[in-house]
This record gives sequence, structure tokens and C-alpha cells, in this order.
Amino acid sequence: MTELDKRRVQEFARSLFGHYTSGLLTLMVDIGHKTGLFEALARGAATSAELAERAALDERYVREWLGAVTTGGLVEYDATSGVFTLPPEHAVCLTGTSSRNLAANSQVLAMLAQRLSRVATCFRTGGGVPYAEFRPDFTDYQDGSWRLLYDGLLIKGFLPAAKGLPERLRAGIRVADVGCGTGHAVNLMAREFPASTFTGYDFSAEAIDRARGEADRMGVPNARFEALDVTTLPAEPKFDLITSFDAIHDQRDPATTLRRIAGALAPNGLYFMLEPRAATKLEANVGNPFAPYLYGMSVLHCMTVSLADGGAGLGTAWGEDKARQMLREAGFTSIEVVAAPGPQNSIYICRKG
Ligand SMILES: C[S@@+](CC[C@H](N)C(=O)[O-])C[C@H]1O[C@@H](n2cnc3c(N)ncnc32)[C@H](O)[C@@H]1O
Repeated sequence: MTELDKRRVQEFARSLFGHYTSGLLTLMVDIGHKTGLFEALARGAATSAELAERAALDERYVREWLGAVTTGGLVEYDATSGVFTLPPEHAVCLTGTSSRNLAANSQVLAMLAQRLSRVATCFRTGGGVPYAEFRPDFTDYQDGSWRLLYDGLLIKGFLPAAKGLPERLRAGIRVADVGCGTGHAVNLMAREFPASTFTGYDFSAEAIDRARGEADRMGVPNARFEALDVTTLPAEPKFDLITSFDAIHDQRDPATTLRRIAGALAPNGLYFMLEPRAATKLEANVGNPFAPYLYGMSVLHCMTVSLADGGAGLGTAWGEDKARQMLREAGFTSIEVVAAPGPQNSIYICRKG
């Protein structure tokens, strides 16, 4: 039997337990976000009693939560005064309306964990867990974790990645967004570019209802939404721009969707696809700190929803090589890939030539 390197065992055990701790701290962030504790603490340093009163919460729970987030390094504590502080650099990432606020992303763990035993069964039986079984909390999570990103980056960060696109949108073009979810990206574009018309497609009736509701509230008559399985996207009407944001890799039949997108583009049309930044080969993702997140998301959501329908199961980290290959097969002859602002996504600017 091979002699174990005891130090390596010890180090690995420590790092393994560190992963479990990170999971629990993610749930603490979820609680802090849902209860308003971060926002309350961002208003000023406080004892646990003051914070509980400020947030209108039970002090015993607040004190125990403070124990977790203080020892976890999210919050600072002065033992002499009993006062807790949220450093401003942490507050930026946990509160407010900027795209740096990542607090809503923490919902991912509880949402995925609820389906974990269903997914574990699929390891034995094959198949998957359908999209419908992730609703409605998947819809909340997806909306919550992308909303601020769109607010901060869509108009000034993502769209200008395609040269001349903002100008064309300003002049007035026909736009479709495929897999639009709750439609925030569509509604923001419709508000910014009133001369253009926008159609958002998603097969979730619940998400489409929310998208329509927001369009009404925002007063954007140039945005409309339709419940549609985009593998049946018709060739007419034609669009000058089709976008998809994080909405291809988890589809049952992404090859057909990409072909349909190519078929619905007008001459000189542009397909703008935003997808997680990854390499297709596993070995090229080793060392990418976001890669375990992408593969984990894939096992627990993106791959399983695709496999549930006997689909392709591309996986979240399908990566640039595979994406380029599938875009070429769909009929795109010019594919430019640029890094989206932030570390997580790539933008594919595709034309039919
Ligand atoms: C990861 S979410 C992204 C949603 C949205 N683009 C956003 O950024 O918030 C993927 C979306 O694609 C939708 N979707 C998946 N397969 C689809 C299909 N075949 N037809 C229409 N929508 C689909 C899902 O309902 C979901 O809303």
C-alpha cells in the first residue's frame, strides 16, 4: 500500500472543510440579503441589539448570524464596544444598486440544493430534472443575479462590444432576444433605444408574464414578449439583431436554436450571443477560479435541464471552441469573440457573411 503523505492529507482535509464553510457562508449571505441585514449594517456600525432593531429582526438570530459573518471575514467586530462594521469595500459587493452588488447571487445555493436529490438520482438513471421543476425560485434567482448587471453594463458595456451596434439601435432596427427570461435586458434596451422594436422570447410563461409587467411599469411600448420554444423560432418576421444572454448552453436542442436564429436574421443581420467564458477542454479550465462554479452550476441546473428532455446537455462550460463550431454549423461565417466586462462572460458577434 502506498504510504500516505500525512501533511498532504491534513492540507486537503482543511481545504475540503473550507469548501463546506464557504457553502454555509453563501447561505449566510442569502439570509443577510433576504432580511435586509447588510443594508441595515451599511447604514452604520451597530451592536447586535442596535442592528436587530434597525432591521426589525429577532436579536438572538441576528447575533448568531453576526458570529458567522464576522468569523467568516465579511463583517468586522470591535470586542471592546461590541460594535459590528461592514467595511465600505464589502458594502459595495453586498448592498446597493451597482453591478458590483453580488448579494442576490447567493440565492443560487438554496435554489440548487432543493433539487439536489433529484439530480443525484439522475446520476444512476440518466435523464435530467426539467426546467419547470426549478420554477419559480430559479426565475427569482436568475432575475436577481442578472438585473443589476444589466442595469450597470448592458447599454454601456455589453452592446458597444459590437462596433456600430449602438448607432444602429439608435437609428431604429428590429431586435429579438432569445431566452429572455424576465425580460429586463429587453426592457432596458427598449427604453434606451425608442426608435427600435424589441421582441423577447422565452418558453416560461411565468417569466414572460413578469417581463410584460415590467414593460408596462417602465412604459416601453416598443417591447413585446411572446412565450415560445425558440427551437421553433420562425424564419419570418426577420430581425436585424438577435441577442441571447446566457441562454444557449442550457437548451435542449441548441443546434436547432442557433440555426433558427441564423434563419430569422435579415440581410446584414447580427447575432449577439453572451455566454459563460470558458474553454471547451477541461484541462484548459484547470486553474480558472470560476470553472468549478460553472461545472457545478451545470451539474445542478444547466446540463440537467437540457438532458431532462433527451437534449444535448452541452453544459455551462461548453466553451469557445465548441461554441464557434456550433455557430459555424448554424451558418455563421464571421464570428468575433470578445471578453464581456467582468471576468465571467464572453460575447460572440456573429454574421452570416
Ligand atoms: C439562464 S436563463 C437566462 C435568462 C435571461 N436571458 C437572463 O439573462 O436573465 C435561460 C433562459 O432560457 C430559457 N429557455 C431555455 N430553453 C428554451 C427554449 N427552448 N425556448 C425558449 N426559452 C428557453 C429559460 O426559460 C430561461 O429563461
